[in-house]
Amino acid sequence: MKKIALFVALLGIGTAKAQRPINVREEFAFAAKQYEQMLKAHPDTTKFPQSTNPDGSPRNMSSSWWCSGFFGGSLWYLYEYTKDPVWKDAAHRWTMAVAKEQYNTRTHDLGFMLYCPFGNGYRLTKNPAYKPIMLTGAKSLATRFRPDYGVIKSWETFKDRAGQRYDYPVIVDNMMNLEFLFWAARESGDKQLYDLSVAHADKTLENHFRPDASSYHVVLYGDGGKVLARRTHQGYADESAWARGQAWALYGYTTMYRETKDKKYLTQAQRIADFYLKHPNLPADKVPYWDFNAPNIPNEERDASAGAIVASALLELSTYSPKSKKEYFSAAEQILQSLASPAYKAKLGENNYFLLRHSVGHKPGKSEIDVPLVYADYYFLEALLRYDAMQKKRS
Ligand code: GLY
Repeated sequence: MKKIALFVALLGIGTAKAQRPINVREEFAFAAKQYEQMLKAHPDTTKFPQSTNPDGSPRNMSSSWWCSGFFGGSLWYLYEYTKDPVWKDAAHRWTMAVAKEQYNTRTHDLGFMLYCPFGNGYRLTKNPAYKPIMLTGAKSLATRFRPDYGVIKSWETFKDRAGQRYDYPVIVDNMMNLEFLFWAARESGDKQLYDLSVAHADKTLENHFRPDASSYHVVLYGDGGKVLARRTHQGYADESAWARGQAWALYGYTTMYRETKDKKYLTQAQRIADFYLKHPNLPADKVPYWDFNAPNIPNEERDASAGAIVASALLELSTYSPKSKKEYFSAAEQILQSLASPAYKAKLGENNYFLLRHSVGHKPGKSEIDVPLVYADYYFLEALLRYDAMQKKRS
């Protein structure tokens, strides 16, 4: 019996492909060259790099778009790695360009918009100008929480594919804005911000997930916080698993565990990771199709942004999960290898100067299909920094 076990083990060693470590230095050297050109191509800080239009031209958006904080955030990550003041100056300019959104109470995306640029900037420089902007923004975001519903409202209104309109939609993406509120609760001493984040995460845990830990995209609330319906917006179908939604959920509950140390959030993050990693429709390179249930797999677009978000989340989750540490770390490493390969990474000077190709913004809305996306780059750089820190700790 022992002999058979040894033979099987040796066979495994013989056939398993050794996983190359990522060359983080090379990745950042490339990112710096590519983003130098991106900066030159964007002299106007009211036009935020977002993606590529169908005609190939750069797609830019205004500061009120949910993605406006990612470019500044990526510039901070470049500064963090290179320590070159050129990136600090550029990051500051693109961060301040979003400042007016601190008063925006019509979106739940203030975590993305403000915490990615100002939060990273404050972490790295302690610039005192950044803090009040974030605290005002956190208060604006908190106005969207209804205590009787126990959940933050995502969008003002939502019309489903059958034309039914709802006025209290909550999307799973909203889990990503809680990190910002936890920071603000700590910095301001306002415990309400902490409590409402926990309430939101609990209500989402209760209502957004199927028994297999996959997430619905949109839950429609009404009447005292009752669930009226569960729908999709960017996914293939109401009952499908939209890939980026699963990524937001994984990242969100990993963050919830970091902030609260409540084991139920860790369990949820691990269940979501397992859903993702064990899914039969996850391709061998571990970068998902845009929806796990898209009808024409394998002839469907990949979503590199979901892969990048998952890689970053798995790296953190691996540090909380002794039993699955190796599995999560190695899966994240594999995703990063895939994204850093020519299959996804752009050539220098191409791709409108974004780093990654092949993301999907909103396929059912016929928007941003198989394109670069600013947040794919942001989470790719974040994951590389996390990976680098973990490798240095190991050695
Ligand atoms: N929060 C919107 C998206 O993930 O596309």
